[in-house]
Amino acid sequence: MKTLVVFYSRTGTTKKVALEIANKLGAEIEEIKDTVNRSGVKGYLVSGRDAMKKRLTTLELTTKNPADFDLVIIGTPIWGWNMSVPVRTYITEKKNNFKKVAFFCTMGGTGDDKTFAEMEQIVGQKPAATLALLTRDVAKNDFAEKLEKFTDALSA
Ligand SMILES: Cc1cc2nc3c(=O)[nH]c(=O)nc-3n(C[C@H](O)[C@H](O)[C@H](O)COP(=O)(O)O)c2cc1C
Repeated sequence: MKTLVVFYSRTGTTKKVALEIANKLGAEIEEIKDTVNRSGVKGYLVSGRDAMKKRLTTLELTTKNPADFDLVIIGTPIWGWNMSVPVRTYITEKKNNFKKVAFFCTMGGTGDDKTFAEMEQIVGQKPAATLALLTRDVAKNDFAEKLEKFTDALSA
């Protein structure tokens, strides 16, 4: 199965998980890059506000066409109990180009259920599997079991 892992990561946590998933599944990778600078305290505040207002952004050009893949695994950090603004933009722009999807997120504490439900609504299909991880567990490398359950569900 030709698989793409596509993700946005502001501070590296979601990226770490994306690389692990891609490695386990032998998938290709696309990192979503924003044209907006979201670093620092100002970047944090603007990003939280924009995520809660469900705003979109302008992304840098991506290199892979999701329609070329049997499965696209989409990863986002949780911002203000929502998906990140760059991931909202990506899935909104590409929503008609996904054959099959799965979702994952990283978060400080909560927001995964609401976020996955909204991602499902935007892409118009149920994910084959979902994975929600806490930032601190990713930092401690304490997520192998959940990751395996996720990748097993996708390779079944
Ligand atoms: C603007 C902003 C808002 C956030 N809001 C939430 C939230 O509502 N719930 C939560 O559990 N974590 C929240 N977080 C924490 C991130 O989801 C968490 O640190 C995530 O692992 C960061 O991923 P990244 O390193 O890939 O950017 C927020 C972080 C940022 C920057």
